[in-house]
Amino acid sequence: MASIYAALDDVSLRFGERIVLENCSLDIVKDAITCIIGMSGAGKSTILRLLDGLIVPNSGHVYLNERDLCHTSERELNVLRRKVSLAFQFAAMLDSLTIGDNVALPLREHTDLHEPQIRKIAEDALESVGLQNVYHQLPNQLSGGMLKRAGFARAIVTRPELILYDEPTTGLDPIVSHLITNTIVDLRKKFGGTAIVISHDLHSIYRMADYVAMLFEGAIIAYGPVEEIRRSENPIVQQFLHGSEVGPIPL
Ligand SMILES: Nc1ncnc2c1ncn2[C@@H]1O[C@H](COP(=O)(O)OP(=O)(O)OP(=O)(O)O)[C@@H](O)[C@H]1O
Ligand SMILES: [Mg+2]
Repeated sequence: MASIYAALDDVSLRFGERIVLENCSLDIVKDAITCIIGMSGAGKSTILRLLDGLIVPNSGHVYLNERDLCHTSERELNVLRRKVSLAFQFAAMLDSLTIGDNVALPLREHTDLHEPQIRKIAEDALESVGLQNVYHQLPNQLSGGMLKRAGFARAIVTRPELILYDEPTTGLDPIVSHLITNTIVDLRKKFGGTAIVISHDLHSIYRMADYVAMLFEGAIIAYGPVEEIRRSENPIVQQFLHGSEVGPIPL
Protein backbone atom coordinates (compact mmCIF):
# COMPACT_ATOMS: atom_id res chain seq x y z
CA MET A 1 0.00 0.00 0.00
CA ALA A 2 1.17 3.52 -0.77
CA SER A 3 2.31 5.40 2.30
CA ILE A 4 0.51 8.56 3.32
CA TYR A 5 2.38 11.82 3.89
CA ALA A 6 -0.49 14.05 5.00
CA ALA A 7 -4.17 13.69 5.76
CA LEU A 8 -7.36 15.40 6.76
CA ASP A 9 -9.42 13.17 9.01
CA ASP A 10 -13.09 14.05 9.48
CA VAL A 11 -12.34 17.77 9.38
CA SER A 12 -15.06 20.37 9.83
CA LEU A 13 -14.33 24.05 9.46
CA ARG A 14 -16.51 27.12 9.37
CA PHE A 15 -15.87 30.82 9.07
CA GLY A 16 -18.66 32.44 11.09
CA GLU A 17 -21.92 31.09 9.68
CA ARG A 18 -20.31 29.73 6.53
CA ILE A 19 -19.52 26.00 6.72
CA VAL A 20 -16.58 25.41 4.38
CA LEU A 21 -15.59 21.82 5.22
CA GLU A 22 -17.84 19.23 6.80
CA ASN A 23 -16.55 15.78 7.80
CA CYS A 24 -13.91 16.09 5.13
CA SER A 25 -11.29 13.35 4.85
CA LEU A 26 -8.41 13.12 2.41
CA ASP A 27 -5.19 11.09 2.26
CA ILE A 28 -2.20 12.51 0.46
CA VAL A 29 0.06 9.77 -0.92
CA LYS A 30 3.77 10.24 -0.23
CA ASP A 31 6.01 11.07 -3.19
CA ALA A 32 3.05 11.55 -5.51
CA ILE A 33 1.35 14.58 -7.06
CA THR A 34 -2.25 14.96 -5.92
CA CYS A 35 -4.47 17.51 -7.66
CA ILE A 36 -7.46 18.96 -5.85
CA ILE A 37 -10.30 20.14 -8.06
CA GLY A 38 -13.56 21.84 -7.18
CA MET A 39 -15.69 24.89 -7.80
CA SER A 40 -14.48 28.36 -6.95
CA GLY A 41 -15.08 28.98 -3.24
CA ALA A 42 -15.34 25.25 -2.47
CA GLY A 43 -12.54 25.46 0.09
CA LYS A 44 -9.50 24.23 -1.85
CA SER A 45 -7.11 26.96 -0.67
CA THR A 46 -8.48 26.43 2.82
CA ILE A 47 -7.32 22.79 2.71
CA LEU A 48 -3.79 23.98 1.88
CA ARG A 49 -3.87 26.43 4.77
CA LEU A 50 -4.95 23.62 7.12
CA LEU A 51 -2.09 21.40 5.91
CA ASP A 52 0.38 24.23 6.41
CA GLY A 53 -0.88 24.70 9.98
CA LEU A 54 -1.97 28.28 9.26
CA ILE A 55 -5.50 27.57 10.46
CA VAL A 56 -6.97 24.87 12.69
CA PRO A 57 -10.25 23.04 12.09
CA ASN A 58 -13.28 23.30 14.37
CA SER A 59 -13.20 19.52 14.65
CA GLY A 60 -11.30 16.59 13.21
CA HIS A 61 -7.57 16.13 12.69
CA VAL A 62 -4.91 17.27 10.27
CA TYR A 63 -1.87 15.02 9.99
CA LEU A 64 1.52 15.80 8.57
CA ASN A 65 3.99 12.95 8.52
CA GLU A 66 1.88 11.16 11.14
CA ARG A 67 1.88 14.14 13.50
CA ASP A 68 -1.47 15.63 14.46
CA LEU A 69 -1.13 19.37 13.81
CA CYS A 70 -4.05 20.09 16.11
CA HIS A 71 -2.17 18.63 19.08
CA THR A 72 1.33 19.96 18.73
CA SER A 73 3.01 22.79 20.54
CA GLU A 74 3.64 26.04 18.69
CA ARG A 75 7.35 25.23 18.73
CA GLU A 76 6.90 21.78 17.24
CA LEU A 77 4.47 23.18 14.68
CA ASN A 78 7.15 25.60 13.52
CA VAL A 79 9.57 22.72 12.99
CA LEU A 80 6.94 20.70 11.10
CA ARG A 81 5.96 23.67 8.96
CA ARG A 82 9.52 23.99 7.66
CA LYS A 83 8.99 20.73 5.82
CA VAL A 84 6.10 22.30 3.93
CA SER A 85 6.23 25.03 1.29
CA LEU A 86 3.29 26.93 -0.06
CA ALA A 87 3.52 28.34 -3.58
CA PHE A 88 0.80 30.96 -3.45
CA GLN A 89 -2.08 31.58 -5.86
CA PHE A 90 -0.43 34.91 -6.67
CA ALA A 91 3.36 34.67 -6.68
CA ALA A 92 3.79 36.97 -3.69
CA MET A 93 7.27 38.42 -4.16
CA LEU A 94 8.49 41.34 -2.10
CA ASP A 95 8.70 44.19 -4.61
CA SER A 96 11.64 45.91 -2.96
CA LEU A 97 13.89 42.83 -2.98
CA THR A 98 15.64 41.36 -6.02
CA ILE A 99 14.43 37.98 -7.28
CA GLY A 100 17.57 36.40 -5.84
CA ASP A 101 16.96 37.91 -2.41
CA ASN A 102 13.31 36.84 -2.52
CA VAL A 103 14.34 33.25 -3.28
CA ALA A 104 17.07 33.33 -0.63
CA LEU A 105 14.72 34.69 2.04
CA PRO A 106 13.62 31.34 3.55
CA LEU A 107 17.28 30.30 3.85
CA ARG A 108 18.19 33.55 5.60
CA GLU A 109 15.22 33.15 7.94
CA HIS A 110 15.50 29.46 8.76
CA THR A 111 19.12 28.38 8.37
CA ASP A 112 22.57 29.36 9.62
CA LEU A 113 24.12 29.00 6.18
CA HIS A 114 26.72 31.55 5.14
CA GLU A 115 26.12 34.09 2.42
CA PRO A 116 28.08 32.35 -0.39
CA GLN A 117 26.21 29.07 0.26
CA ILE A 118 22.87 30.84 0.36
CA ARG A 119 23.60 32.55 -2.91
CA LYS A 120 24.65 29.32 -4.59
CA ILE A 121 21.52 27.44 -3.41
CA ALA A 122 19.25 30.30 -4.52
CA GLU A 123 20.95 30.45 -7.94
CA ASP A 124 20.61 26.67 -8.32
CA ALA A 125 16.93 26.87 -7.36
CA LEU A 126 16.33 29.54 -10.02
CA GLU A 127 18.17 27.44 -12.57
CA SER A 128 16.10 24.36 -11.74
CA VAL A 129 12.95 26.29 -12.71
CA GLY A 130 14.58 27.45 -15.93
CA LEU A 131 15.40 31.01 -14.85
CA GLN A 132 18.87 32.33 -15.58
CA ASN A 133 20.24 35.84 -15.20
CA VAL A 134 17.32 37.10 -13.11
CA TYR A 135 19.07 37.07 -9.72
CA HIS A 136 19.55 40.84 -9.65
CA GLN A 137 16.28 41.79 -11.31
CA LEU A 138 13.33 43.21 -9.42
CA PRO A 139 9.94 41.40 -9.46
CA ASN A 140 8.34 44.08 -11.66
CA GLN A 141 10.91 43.32 -14.37
CA LEU A 142 9.62 39.75 -14.81
CA SER A 143 6.58 38.42 -16.69
CA GLY A 144 3.76 36.63 -14.83
CA GLY A 145 5.02 33.19 -15.86
CA MET A 146 8.58 34.00 -14.79
CA LEU A 147 7.31 35.28 -11.45
CA LYS A 148 5.41 32.04 -10.90
CA ARG A 149 8.56 30.07 -11.55
CA ALA A 150 10.56 32.35 -9.25
CA GLY A 151 7.88 31.61 -6.63
CA PHE A 152 8.48 27.88 -7.15
CA ALA A 153 12.23 28.43 -6.75
CA ARG A 154 11.55 30.10 -3.42
CA ALA A 155 9.23 27.23 -2.43
CA ILE A 156 11.86 24.54 -3.11
CA VAL A 157 14.90 26.36 -1.79
CA THR A 158 14.60 24.75 1.65
CA ARG A 159 14.05 21.26 0.12
CA PRO A 160 10.56 20.77 1.59
CA GLU A 161 9.00 17.34 1.90
CA LEU A 162 5.62 18.70 0.80
CA ILE A 163 4.97 21.47 -1.72
CA LEU A 164 1.53 23.02 -1.96
CA TYR A 165 0.81 24.76 -5.26
CA ASP A 166 -2.28 26.96 -5.33
CA GLU A 167 -3.54 27.43 -8.90
CA PRO A 168 -0.10 27.55 -10.52
CA THR A 169 -1.37 28.00 -14.09
CA THR A 170 -4.41 30.22 -13.56
CA GLY A 171 -4.29 33.34 -15.72
CA LEU A 172 -1.37 32.18 -17.87
CA ASP A 173 -1.43 31.53 -21.62
CA PRO A 174 -1.45 27.87 -22.79
CA ILE A 175 2.25 27.80 -23.61
CA VAL A 176 3.36 29.25 -20.29
CA SER A 177 0.85 26.96 -18.51
CA HIS A 178 2.51 24.02 -20.22
CA LEU A 179 5.93 25.25 -19.13
CA ILE A 180 4.75 25.70 -15.53
CA THR A 181 3.20 22.23 -15.49
CA ASN A 182 6.45 20.72 -16.79
CA THR A 183 8.37 22.65 -14.15
CA ILE A 184 6.24 21.08 -11.39
CA VAL A 185 6.82 17.60 -12.84
CA ASP A 186 10.57 18.25 -13.27
CA LEU A 187 10.96 19.58 -9.74
CA ARG A 188 9.35 16.46 -8.36
CA LYS A 189 11.61 14.25 -10.47
CA LYS A 190 14.68 16.18 -9.40
CA PHE A 191 14.00 16.62 -5.68
CA GLY A 192 11.35 13.96 -4.95
CA GLY A 193 8.83 14.70 -2.24
CA THR A 194 5.09 15.06 -2.18
CA ALA A 195 3.07 17.73 -3.97
CA ILE A 196 -0.50 18.95 -3.82
CA VAL A 197 -1.68 21.09 -6.70
CA ILE A 198 -4.94 22.99 -6.80
CA SER A 199 -5.92 23.50 -10.38
CA HIS A 200 -8.81 24.18 -12.72
CA ASP A 201 -6.61 23.45 -15.70
CA LEU A 202 -7.57 19.99 -16.97
CA HIS A 203 -4.70 19.75 -19.50
CA SER A 204 -2.26 20.48 -16.74
CA ILE A 205 -3.96 18.04 -14.32
CA TYR A 206 -3.91 15.18 -16.82
CA ARG A 207 -0.22 15.83 -17.49
CA MET A 208 1.01 15.92 -13.93
CA ALA A 209 -1.43 14.26 -11.51
CA ASP A 210 -0.93 10.85 -9.98
CA TYR A 211 -4.10 11.24 -7.92
CA VAL A 212 -7.09 13.55 -8.17
CA ALA A 213 -9.47 14.54 -5.37
CA MET A 214 -12.67 16.46 -5.98
CA LEU A 215 -14.00 18.75 -3.26
CA PHE A 216 -17.74 19.41 -3.36
CA GLU A 217 -20.04 20.86 -0.73
CA GLY A 218 -17.51 20.54 2.07
CA ALA A 219 -16.15 17.05 1.45
CA ILE A 220 -14.06 14.98 -0.94
CA ILE A 221 -16.66 13.24 -3.10
CA ALA A 222 -14.27 11.49 -5.48
CA TYR A 223 -10.68 10.40 -5.09
CA GLY A 224 -8.41 8.07 -7.02
CA PRO A 225 -5.69 7.69 -9.65
CA VAL A 226 -6.07 10.34 -12.35
CA GLU A 227 -7.24 7.86 -15.01
CA GLU A 228 -9.89 6.50 -12.68
CA ILE A 229 -11.28 9.98 -11.96
CA ARG A 230 -11.25 10.79 -15.68
CA ARG A 231 -13.43 7.78 -16.31
CA SER A 232 -15.54 8.30 -13.18
CA GLU A 233 -19.26 7.88 -13.65
CA ASN A 234 -20.01 10.18 -10.73
CA PRO A 235 -22.28 12.81 -12.36
CA ILE A 236 -20.74 15.65 -10.31
CA VAL A 237 -17.23 14.72 -11.46
CA GLN A 238 -18.41 14.32 -15.05
CA GLN A 239 -20.14 17.70 -15.05
CA PHE A 240 -17.07 19.40 -13.61
CA LEU A 241 -14.62 17.76 -16.03
CA HIS A 242 -16.82 18.61 -19.01
CA GLY A 243 -17.58 22.13 -17.81
CA SER A 244 -21.24 21.49 -18.44
CA GLU A 245 -24.03 23.75 -17.22
CA VAL A 246 -26.34 20.76 -17.06
CA GLY A 247 -26.03 18.40 -14.11
CA PRO A 248 -26.20 18.11 -10.34
CA ILE A 249 -23.85 21.03 -9.53
CA PRO A 250 -25.95 24.07 -8.52
CA LEU A 251 -24.89 27.17 -10.49
N1 LIG B 1 -10.31 33.89 6.58
C1 LIG B 1 -11.56 33.73 6.11
N2 LIG B 1 -12.61 34.33 6.73
C2 LIG B 1 -13.86 34.15 6.26
N3 LIG B 1 -14.18 33.39 5.20
C3 LIG B 1 -13.19 32.79 4.56
C4 LIG B 1 -11.82 32.92 4.97
N4 LIG B 1 -11.05 32.20 4.13
C5 LIG B 1 -11.90 31.64 3.24
N5 LIG B 1 -13.18 31.99 3.48
C6 LIG B 1 -14.37 31.51 2.74
O1 LIG B 1 -14.29 30.11 2.66
C7 LIG B 1 -14.73 29.65 1.40
C8 LIG B 1 -13.66 28.81 0.76
O2 LIG B 1 -12.57 29.65 0.40
P1 LIG B 1 -11.30 29.10 -0.38
O3 LIG B 1 -10.43 30.27 -0.63
O4 LIG B 1 -10.72 27.94 0.33
O5 LIG B 1 -11.96 28.59 -1.75
P2 LIG B 1 -11.27 28.02 -3.06
O6 LIG B 1 -11.88 26.70 -3.34
O7 LIG B 1 -9.79 28.09 -2.92
O8 LIG B 1 -11.79 29.05 -4.18
P3 LIG B 1 -11.05 29.63 -5.50
O9 LIG B 1 -11.12 28.54 -6.53
O10 LIG B 1 -11.91 30.79 -5.88
O11 LIG B 1 -9.66 30.02 -5.11
C9 LIG B 1 -15.12 30.89 0.61
O12 LIG B 1 -16.51 31.05 0.72
C10 LIG B 1 -14.40 32.01 1.32
O13 LIG B 1 -15.10 33.20 1.17
MG1 LIG C 1 -8.31 29.22 -3.87
